[in-house]
Amino acid sequence: MTTTQRADVPYVCTACGTTSLRWVGRCGTCGEWNTLGPASVRVHRPGRAAAVEGVPAVALRDVSTDGARPLPTGVSELDRVMGGGVVGGSVTLLFGPPGIGKSTLLFQVLSSVATTGADVMLASAEESLTQVSGRASRMGPVPPHLLALEGPDVEAIEAAVERHRPALVVVDSLQSVSDPGLAQPAGSLAQVRACVERLTRMAKSSGVPLLLVGHVTKDGDLAGPRAVEHLVDTVLSFDGDRHHALRVLTSVKHRFGPTGEVGIFEMRDDGLRAVPDPGPLMLGDRMAGVPGSVVVPVLQGRRPLLVEVQALLGPGTGTSGGGVAPRPHTLGIDAARANLLVAVLACRTAVDVPVPAEFFVAAVGGITVSEPAADLAVALAMASVVRQRPVPADLVVFGELGLAGEVRTVPGVDRRLAEAHRAGFTRALVPASALGDAAATAATPAGLAVHGVRTLAEALEMAGTEAVARTGPGTMPGWSTVRAVANR
Ligand code: TYD
Ligand code: MG
Repeated sequence: MTTTQRADVPYVCTACGTTSLRWVGRCGTCGEWNTLGPASVRVHRPGRAAAVEGVPAVALRDVSTDGARPLPTGVSELDRVMGGGVVGGSVTLLFGPPGIGKSTLLFQVLSSVATTGADVMLASAEESLTQVSGRASRMGPVPPHLLALEGPDVEAIEAAVERHRPALVVVDSLQSVSDPGLAQPAGSLAQVRACVERLTRMAKSSGVPLLLVGHVTKDGDLAGPRAVEHLVDTVLSFDGDRHHALRVLTSVKHRFGPTGEVGIFEMRDDGLRAVPDPGPLMLGDRMAGVPGSVVVPVLQGRRPLLVEVQALLGPGTGTSGGGVAPRPHTLGIDAARANLLVAVLACRTAVDVPVPAEFFVAAVGGITVSEPAADLAVALAMASVVRQRPVPADLVVFGELGLAGEVRTVPGVDRRLAEAHRAGFTRALVPASALGDAAATAATPAGLAVHGVRTLAEALEMAGTEAVARTGPGTMPGWSTVRAVANR
């Protein structure tokens, strides 16, 4: 193999996409066995250079932008994320873990567009049409303009699109379609890449917008298809906890508009329902007045979402002994950050973190909170449970914590405060430095007492976890003067 004259890399790992000049049994990058297969080799076409010579460049300002006007899908939260809808000839990849609701979401999109009288097509490579029909019947009547095609053959999909010229095509899923001209099995990197290339060419030449489903593996990676993200125009992630109803749709890449927009859905018995106001879904079952519960307004994209953080302290097993603070078990919260926050709590405040002990910290509602802005809430929840003192039920907190115990500012202060106020919260602990910002203070909603804190210790005091005898939330030290300032 070393004697080859080719510039191309002849082997590629179907698990991680790493290329290799020679075949090896185990991929050196991801460690998987027997995943190396031949990479596609570039074909030399002698007439090609002459053929492309005559293509002129054009003045960009003369290029029509008509094709970029999106077609609304009618699924409001998806349209919001896509900046109005799907653009003609565009290719969108929707990825997420198996069972999260990708097929359900795109079926609803097809159904909604078909209801307007336009023909749409589902190419179902993964499920039989009987299965698709079974799902459809749970979601209501199927419009007559919804066409469906069963089978994995990408050529059959191309032919059907050519024949019916639908207004929208969904291919479900990338891991199941295959190009009959390739020897590799469906789902291999070579197949996925070849199919995406073919389907993308089809979308561009026909002007038909295409939505592709891709499954992610347990590592959060698209099985191979992370390697196809660059081939498509838009990449949407669909995520949530399968055991909870909440689903979050985020745009990761979008060639026709801004990314970071978020759509929120609730999975119900009759399909996904858009949730314009996730507040009741997120905080509906909250038990106020229990130690260890703190609410934080997090930002999902640009959208604020109120999330309850809970902490619990279990009896120690002795495993963390030796005077070391316990490593928290986490759910929906970054474990490394939570671990760091236990250390900050133990070293920078007067809270005696018991040793040995077991800490549990969770974000409620099936959401994953990865923002540093949730630090203050996590630390407060842990302090509250150690001290067995609840924080006020009408309090929200946010801020990043440094190792010195300092509270650092975070983006979107006014959006977070506005959401807290809208949901009926009446006090907020925020980074003191954020209040120095004139824009942030001007946007402080009336009726919301906002207090800036510089350190975690200060936040603990304001939240009442340090008070010797609590006389009720309304009379806690500090807050009466704060409210007067905030309402001025
Ligand atoms: P599905 O869309 O098939 O997931 P994916 O395509 O991402 O693998 O949906 C999977 C789950 O959603 C399934 O376990 C059942 C649930 N579900 C509902 O709760 N209500 C519904 O109306 C539908 C269609 C599915
Ligand atoms: Mg599916």
